Amino acid sequence: MSIPALATLESIDLRGKRVLLRCDLNVPLKDGVITDDGRIRASLPTIKYLLAQGAAVVVTAHLGRPKGERKPELSLAPISIRLAELLGTEVAFSSEIVGSQSAKAIQGGQVVLLENIRYEVAETSKDEAERLVLAKELASYADVFISDGFGAVHRKHASVYDVAKLLPHAAGYLVAAEIEVLKKLTQAPERPYGVVLGGAKVSDKIGVISNLLDKVNVLAIGGGMLFTFLAAQGKEIGKSLVETDLIPTVNELLARAEQLGVKILLPTDIVVAKEFSADSTPTIVSADSIPADQMGLDIGPDTAASFAEAISQCKTVFWNGPMGVFEFPNFANGTKVVAKSLTTVSGISVVGGGDSAAAVRKLGFKDEEFGYISTGGGASLEYLEGKELPGIIALA
Ligand code: 3PG
Repeated sequence: MSIPALATLESIDLRGKRVLLRCDLNVPLKDGVITDDGRIRASLPTIKYLLAQGAAVVVTAHLGRPKGERKPELSLAPISIRLAELLGTEVAFSSEIVGSQSAKAIQGGQVVLLENIRYEVAETSKDEAERLVLAKELASYADVFISDGFGAVHRKHASVYDVAKLLPHAAGYLVAAEIEVLKKLTQAPERPYGVVLGGAKVSDKIGVISNLLDKVNVLAIGGGMLFTFLAAQGKEIGKSLVETDLIPTVNELLARAEQLGVKILLPTDIVVAKEFSADSTPTIVSADSIPADQMGLDIGPDTAASFAEAISQCKTVFWNGPMGVFEFPNFANGTKVVAKSLTTVSGISVVGGGDSAAAVRKLGFKDEEFGYISTGGGASLEYLEGKELPGIIALA
């Protein structure tokens, strides 16, 4: 997709204005406790800028996929508390979305966070007219719309797409920064260009692999998705994850890669276990001989070392998806080694997406060790797939 020129925050007069700000505050929670607040932190620069302009800021965001139901575990209430702590200023929380009195009442220099916008069925509706009704309600709170929820810009939703048509608008700092990075990955990236993909499902990554094949020099495949590749090569994969229906597609990709002379790195060794559990005993086996009663839960140490070697020689690297079940310490080594290698890249290294970002932080890495940590997994993958991002198109 070609990206339209986006109006910047500084290009519009925001002094004393009422601003509707779309953020992506979709953070992981465990028993109501935020386990990674990266997306909240990434939203701060724009909010601080707006407050410094004396704007009244109405923040709208989503959490999970409640599909129009008020699911209490997906309330943004705990997020508003963390946002207030990080901002060092009060954040009013409005449990009403439509007809929010707090949104109507706030003054310049104040912030209100509206409850999970996906509690409104119209937010994600396929029916444009239905979305428009909600977008109009949101637009009625403000004079200006600022789009900063990068993680959701691939969604044609009322608070992402439709509202931009109703108000003067601009991209926030986060959206602007993310787009700059995506441009670096797609417009004449410095070479060698390596992409590392992991995660459970190959079906989520087929589009991006297919679109990137003629653009990258090295493509390394790990995570649960690697077993569909091994199965496509006729290997025994035991009880590992597999998407059998995609084997023909994977074979076509492998054949295309060979024609194009693109190196696809696949694991040569695997860490297997009998069960999907943190206490399962890990065993390292050759990728050619996974026992029938075992499942692969991580790439093996030789594979991790060879992926790391290839990555460290690249000048541009994009990584999305863990290499194994990093949540279980016995199966976290592959993800750790790959993350470490990204920190050694002399050009630009990009960790793509909420889950991958949470993984590197959980493994003890600091954000500053990477070139850039994107807040949008789905959004950055769809962009790299060559798809249009509705939330960006709407800002043109
Ligand atoms: C994300 O977590 O990638 C974004 O917040 C978008 O969420 P969604 O995939 O539920 O639209």
